[in-house]
Amino acid sequence: MIGPPGAGKGTQAKELAGLLELAHVSTGDLFRDNIRAGSALGKRVEEILASGALVPDAVTIELVRERLRAQDCVRGAILDGFPRTLPQAEALGVLLAEAGDKINLAPYIKVSDQVLVERLTGRRTDRRTGKIYHVKYNPPPAGADLEQRPDDAEHTVRRRIAEYYANTAPLLEYFRAAGVLQEFDGELAIGDVLKLIVTAARERLAA
Ligand code: AP5
Repeated sequence: MIGPPGAGKGTQAKELAGLLELAHVSTGDLFRDNIRAGSALGKRVEEILASGALVPDAVTIELVRERLRAQDCVRGAILDGFPRTLPQAEALGVLLAEAGDKINLAPYIKVSDQVLVERLTGRRTDRRTGKIYHVKYNPPPAGADLEQRPDDAEHTVRRRIAEYYANTAPLLEYFRAAGVLQEFDGELAIGDVLKLIVTAARERLAA
């Protein structure tokens, strides 16, 4: 899944992974799990995430390499938030080639900058289930145990969007040239975006 912060990558990836019975691998979630657990990796990346900058490539690539070895990735995985730089994309290419595997589809969820800020500042996540909500666009049910991400403060959101344009947006061309990029209008309703991505993913997996 590729797209700016707040495009809906996590929202869509979780649903897609369930529907296609594939693992959901989110580098952001993996870093946040490590921060919560107080691991050495968590301590190393906590300030980086809080600032909105990117974690160094070597650290991120190693984390994904390990994660993709897990049993639940045998049938495949939805990668959410990775790769995010050209070196990460190249490393992923090598890793998949070594395993005789490939990227079937790189869904690009396109959303304008004005919408992103409102989405991120209104985002809430359920601590127990990890489900993503929005105070206005996807209201949480009563009794949900909600938290707000520290990096969803407006100034940090703007830094993350700037990082996206500087480091990640160039990957759109990389995936387009590889013939796997497909663009989706991320400003449609959540369920409509999902339907379009599921249809495209099923077609690619069957091809
Ligand atoms: P990460 O967790 O990946 O954050 P991100 O890319 O900034 O993306 P978000 O999780 O903020 O947004 P999303 O696109 O998943 O949107 P969501 O579905 O939640 O990364 C966090 C940090 O970790 C990075 O800043 C970096 O420091 C580090 N990191 C992670 N990966 C890295 C890597 N590969 N390399 C280096 N560093 C890395 O939706 C947002 C909101 O909008 C929600 O409230 C949702 O309900 C709502 N919404 C979603 N879709 C719609 C819709 N269609 N209509 C209306 N509302 C919607």
